[in-house]
Amino acid sequence: MCGIVGYVGKNNPIESLIDGLKKLEYRGYDSSGIAIKGNNNIQIIKSTGRIIELEDKIKETKLIKSNLGIAHTRWATHGEANEINAHPHKVGKVTLVHNGIIENARDLKNKLVNEGIVFRSETDTEVAAAVINAYYKGNPIQAITKAIKQLKGSFAFGLIFEDQDKLYAVRKDSPLIVGIGEDENFIASDIAAIIKYTDKYMLLDDNEVVELSKNEVNVYKDGEKIDKKVETSNISIEDANKGSYKHFMLKEIMEEPIVLQRTLNKYLKKPSKLFDVSDYEEIHIVACGSALYAGMVGRVLLEEKANIRCITECASEYRYKKVIYDRKTLVILVSQSGETADTIAAMRKAHEEGIDTLAIVNVTTSTIAREAKNSIFIEAGPEIAVATTKAYLLQVAMFSLIALNTAKSKELEKNYEKIVDEGKHISKYLNKILKDKDIFKEVGKELKNCKDAFYIGRGIDYAICKEGSLKLKEVSYTHSDAYEAGELKHGTISLIEDDMPVIAVITDEKIKDKTESNVIEVEARAAKIFTITNDDSIKNHHFKYVVEKISDYFQPILIVPPLQLIGYYTADSRNLDIDKPRNLAKSVTVE
Ligand code: F6R
Repeated sequence: MCGIVGYVGKNNPIESLIDGLKKLEYRGYDSSGIAIKGNNNIQIIKSTGRIIELEDKIKETKLIKSNLGIAHTRWATHGEANEINAHPHKVGKVTLVHNGIIENARDLKNKLVNEGIVFRSETDTEVAAAVINAYYKGNPIQAITKAIKQLKGSFAFGLIFEDQDKLYAVRKDSPLIVGIGEDENFIASDIAAIIKYTDKYMLLDDNEVVELSKNEVNVYKDGEKIDKKVETSNISIEDANKGSYKHFMLKEIMEEPIVLQRTLNKYLKKPSKLFDVSDYEEIHIVACGSALYAGMVGRVLLEEKANIRCITECASEYRYKKVIYDRKTLVILVSQSGETADTIAAMRKAHEEGIDTLAIVNVTTSTIAREAKNSIFIEAGPEIAVATTKAYLLQVAMFSLIALNTAKSKELEKNYEKIVDEGKHISKYLNKILKDKDIFKEVGKELKNCKDAFYIGRGIDYAICKEGSLKLKEVSYTHSDAYEAGELKHGTISLIEDDMPVIAVITDEKIKDKTESNVIEVEARAAKIFTITNDDSIKNHHFKYVVEKISDYFQPILIVPPLQLIGYYTADSRNLDIDKPRNLAKSVTVE
């Protein structure tokens, strides 16, 4: 939710700020803005819409001379997406950009209004600027340190002061990194935004304030200077670019064999103790969206293969519900970004109850990676498309390994070595599926005009259908839903109309006959059946794609790319903005 970038250094800041915003556009894209500082004045330019519109506006503007600036791309929370609400916001001497939510903004605003402050926007960000300005008596570190004590909620702020030539930043529960360059320094929501300029970065912990000039970076905690470690990022410039692909989403799907094999090999060669959860009597898998659906696949594997009691719950419910921890419980948190607000809150709830947590996470510098008791890193590399693909696949694969190692430890799996060996070569099956991508392009064309679709499956196939359905709806704007195949006839079947696409996933040997019967029921109501299966003997009603039959542990992995490609190509057939679907943002750092 919202991307921040800031620059101070030898150059004019515009180029790196715009570059950075373009890389952060996945975090929000309904409006954007920059503020640059001249001698004693600040120039602010804002625009609604995409970064390109801001860029056009900047080209038409006479710019002041500057080497210090901040910029922001917005996913609106407080107030609609218009120019007034777009960041940066300036109050008095303070100009700032913000990612997060100030939960007590209304109370603070009322107080400040009574003191005579006039607000122009509806945002919580302008309130934060006013609070900092109220404390500002010429010492930015002091003002920021005092002001953040008044703010409840989450924030990453990039700040400039009218009478200072330095860049300032602070964060709490929202991501922000400090980039260390040569004669230039940066702040950014994510390293990908500045990787073109530097791979050296520093992580800020909650409430640490950073002061940056061209050649110096100082970090303060409670007003005292502290030492911070400089780290080197392993992401490459190519990771942050589309290359020859039309969309990041397709690029990221095509990367799946490589990232999957790399991660699997690492963990198969040297199985970590973290993959054995046999010490626990109950597992709670808690996450949001696709990460939750990966967890649903995990639940079936853990129950069926490792005979372990398991529940899945979306983090926004889990964080507020009464959870009964009366058995030795492990909470597994799944998150690509590691910054999803509800998942963070669920993790902290478990910690407060003294419950162990294990995170399955991609971004190693994230809050969840840093706070969870233990973490398994999926090593998907940066995922830029808003809709997750390769990270979801790897999340599923981590559950395959957890189920496998737990089953082994409980002496429930006799074929462990054979399955490990299969895991070491799994990318060859994925490569074959991805070579067939044009088959799914044709399916996408066929679905071009459909308004509704259903996904059906049983057991683990149903769990995978949840993700297939989400992919179709979020990128192609097709209304779609996933059902347990046997459940459809309890009401929903009345929605089936002539030629309505029903995508059936059939891999689970034990219940495939049952799913096939459900397919016949909907076909009898004139639905158009698209079957994805691992069994060539299953009837082809309208379209059938058969993946390799492999061990139950890894089988779900092979169903994922066909479903992702159907979503992708349906959206592509409609010429949609696939990497940035409307109303979405990649990292949901607000409740
Ligand atoms: C859908 C999608 C979202 C995320 C969800 C959780 O394609 O990407 O549903 O899976 O917002 O995000 P993370 O995994 O970052 O916690």
